[in-house]
Amino acid sequence: MLEILLYPDERLRRPADRVEAFDEELATFVAELSETVEAADGLGLSANQVGDERAVLVIVPTVDEDAPRIYVNPEITERAAVGLVQESCLSVPGIVGNVVRATEITVQAQDVNGASFEYALSGMDAVCLQHEADHLEGVLFIDRLSFLRRFLLRLRGKTATKG
Ligand code: NI
Repeated sequence: MLEILLYPDERLRRPADRVEAFDEELATFVAELSETVEAADGLGLSANQVGDERAVLVIVPTVDEDAPRIYVNPEITERAAVGLVQESCLSVPGIVGNVVRATEITVQAQDVNGASFEYALSGMDAVCLQHEADHLEGVLFIDRLSFLRRFLLRLRGKTATKG
């Protein structure tokens, strides 16, 4: 299992690089990333959460079990049916917050062999993919919480540090 970086590790803030090499090493890494998210009982994981700089994410679909699990160079091309959803993150343990997300999306990506595909995701699968795509841009879900919520989290952080 790969080590999952924790907030505020600066590597979580680095935008990912586009994958150009679809080789054996990528296949091995993607397999390890998939095993890590399952072992951590997560719904998704991005490469930069384990210190890798490539634009790769994995999700564990819950709505559509046939949905692809691996997305290389993902790009969300359509977003619809926006709602407020509760999220958490393996890199930000202990924090749960409500984030505005589309609940229907279309994503274009490549598989581990470099073949392009397009897929429509809905519900938690769509939310999860947006959360992981954010990671690949260096964005965390806590950045998307309301100002008040972030203020309260900071206060809590200060208290914890003092304690
Ligand atoms: Ni996350």
